[in-house]
Amino acid sequence: MKAVDQRLEEALFRFAGACAAWAAERWLREQLPIRFARRIEDILQLPHVAVINPQMNSILNTYLETFEVIHSSPPIRTEDDERVFLQAIATQLEKHNPGTRLIAEGYREVRRLYPYIRLDDFLHDHFTTRIATRILMDNYVEMRSPKEGYVGVVCQNMQPLKIVQEIAGELTPLTRSLYGCAPEVEYRGNPDCVLDYIPRHVKYMVRELLKNAFRSTVERHLSRSTVSDPLPHVAVELQQGDIHVIFKISDQGGGMPKRMQREAWKYGWTTVNTDRSYREAWQYAEDAEESCSWDRDRGHGDPSKPLQKSRIHFIFVGLCGLRSLRLRRSELAGYGFGLPLTRLHAQYFGGDVFMQALPGHGTDLILILTHLKAGTPSTEIDDLSTLLYKKEVKSS
Ligand SMILES: Nc1ncnc2c1ncn2[C@@H]1O[C@H](COP(=O)(O)OP(=O)(O)O)[C@@H](O)[C@H]1O
Ligand SMILES: [Mg+2]
Repeated sequence: MKAVDQRLEEALFRFAGACAAWAAERWLREQLPIRFARRIEDILQLPHVAVINPQMNSILNTYLETFEVIHSSPPIRTEDDERVFLQAIATQLEKHNPGTRLIAEGYREVRRLYPYIRLDDFLHDHFTTRIATRILMDNYVEMRSPKEGYVGVVCQNMQPLKIVQEIAGELTPLTRSLYGCAPEVEYRGNPDCVLDYIPRHVKYMVRELLKNAFRSTVERHLSRSTVSDPLPHVAVELQQGDIHVIFKISDQGGGMPKRMQREAWKYGWTTVNTDRSYREAWQYAEDAEESCSWDRDRGHGDPSKPLQKSRIHFIFVGLCGLRSLRLRRSELAGYGFGLPLTRLHAQYFGGDVFMQALPGHGTDLILILTHLKAGTPSTEIDDLSTLLYKKEVKSS
């Protein structure tokens, strides 16, 4: 077991001679500033309107601070140096916690002013490095206070079913408080699956996919859900593969027309409208009529009924102007980052996520996660951010 742990440790850290004194610290002290400097350079090369955006600017300042703190930390020669370095890493790690939300808010504001600005490549590189640097820093901190059942940030033999149940348990009261009802979750497949993975990542991906399934189910069926005809269930199927675990999340939220399916993977693409004045609410209802598959492609019953629901629902939200409701609804959807970031997280360790949307019926999201275990491809692949870094060095 020790050998496995050590190999995994090496796979995560990508430095040779893990046993040498303070090798991890030295490696991090050298590598992290390079990665932060590259991202700072990227941010500074964004269009001016993005750089001066308050949220983007706050990200830039945090990156500058982290670069400065790590770069100027003294060489590690004693245990005291090591303790100071560990504390600095833990403090900096925390400062980056709101990073995803800030970027998402900033990008939304920039695109509200300049709708033609697209920063997909920047965001892809930014989030890839963000995942990498956070794993490296987090792993280092966790390894200094080992927990039973964990190798650094990787939890061994965790139970995906428990994670899905925990997230569904969080989202059900949230959805109920926003919409008045929430779908039941039905579990299928192999409830005993086990997975070696970073719990924070699994929770993030499952939360994003379940939020989408809950929202689409409620928004499609809200007007006609009654006690005798409740909302259709969201089904979560778990299966154990040789080197991976498969999560299939199925909803009957109306799916998406084909032309929207590709868009949905782009950063910032969302069908949530966050600025709803009366006119905008009406316009949104019109757009929903134009574009939402769950309104147009039902092909049965009274086709005007769901449209009415859509209009009344959105106009109501627009008219009531409850800022707090809007803010709280953004907890369920609205940034358009859920799908692209879920894919990035899954692909980071050799997994993937696929969508099968049946317009007029519902959506299946299939998430495949590969075990983070020594000997499986996910720990053999190169760290993506290292690849990114090599690419940058080559091109500069
Ligand atoms: N299960 C689903 N059913 C219907 N539409 C979906 C589903 N999942 C995602 N979508 C569509 O894709 C868009 C983007 O999803 P996402 O990236 O999670 O951003 P957000 O949820 O913040 O809008 C959603 O606004 C929605 O229109
Ligand atoms: Mg979402």
